[in-house]
Amino acid sequence: MSRRRRIYEGKAKILFEGPEPGTLVQYFKDDATAFNNQKKGTITGKGVLNNRISEYLMVKLGEIGVPTHFVRRLNMREQLIREVEIIPIEVVIRNVVAGSLSQRFGMAEGTVLPRSIVEYYYKSDELGDPMVSEEHITAFGWASPQDLDDMLSLSLRTNDFLTGLFLGVGLRLVDFKIEFGRLYENEEMRIVLADEISPDSCRLWDVKTNEKLDKDRFRRDLGGVAEAYQEVARRLGILPEGGPRDLKGPSTMQ
Ligand SMILES: Nc1ncnc2c1ncn2[C@@H]1O[C@H](COP(=O)(O)OP(=O)(O)O)[C@@H](O)[C@H]1O
Ligand SMILES: [Mg+2]
Repeated sequence: MSRRRRIYEGKAKILFEGPEPGTLVQYFKDDATAFNNQKKGTITGKGVLNNRISEYLMVKLGEIGVPTHFVRRLNMREQLIREVEIIPIEVVIRNVVAGSLSQRFGMAEGTVLPRSIVEYYYKSDELGDPMVSEEHITAFGWASPQDLDDMLSLSLRTNDFLTGLFLGVGLRLVDFKIEFGRLYENEEMRIVLADEISPDSCRLWDVKTNEKLDKDRFRRDLGGVAEAYQEVARRLGILPEGGPRDLKGPSTMQ
């Protein structure tokens, strides 16, 4: 097999050149980071599970008309995606108080918000992903007012859909982070959902017990991290064929 060109290596994924122009291969690693890279570790099998979970959620979102970068899964750790021009903004949608929202305002984690809150963060590891307003985003040219409008409406549709989907399997979607990109097709540009949606980027609590089934188990040293990711996949009905034993997956990284 020929060596593929590595386009970018991030904290949780690697992007390789895809088989056709305009495509990329997204490889999911087991590496985990938190607090802007200050805490590092690995979660065995995370890459395999996030590849599956993100595939599942993006396909479902595609079915309700939310455009995404996802094309198809290639193997245990890789998926084919459309290459987009990433908008350097992380959109965070919150339904329940947790994490930094609880810290900044001294509000108890678990307080249900009267309406969903949308926040924007500028993607910059050097600056620690500072929170920004729509004014910063348009003034600095990171996204146009039209881009922002599309991002907001896609974010809210994604939130409504995923909230219901997760509730159906006994999980509360507390908050999540998504990224968008510009996809150019026949002289036209549209905003599509990119990156991943997984327990790395969502807070998911068991509806009955409030048990955390997401990356907070890693951030807060709660233990049972890999098991939590497995439980999310199991509830969605998408554990890899071989069950948890199959989670390491082949290390076909070249
Ligand atoms: N469809 C896409 N086209 C181009 N870049 C993408 C696409 N989807 C995600 N990305 C970018 O690829 C990187 C994924 O790797 P990740 O480990 O998450 O990196 P980071 O450490 O920068 O968060 C991210 O920087 C993300 O913005
Ligand atoms: Mg990332």
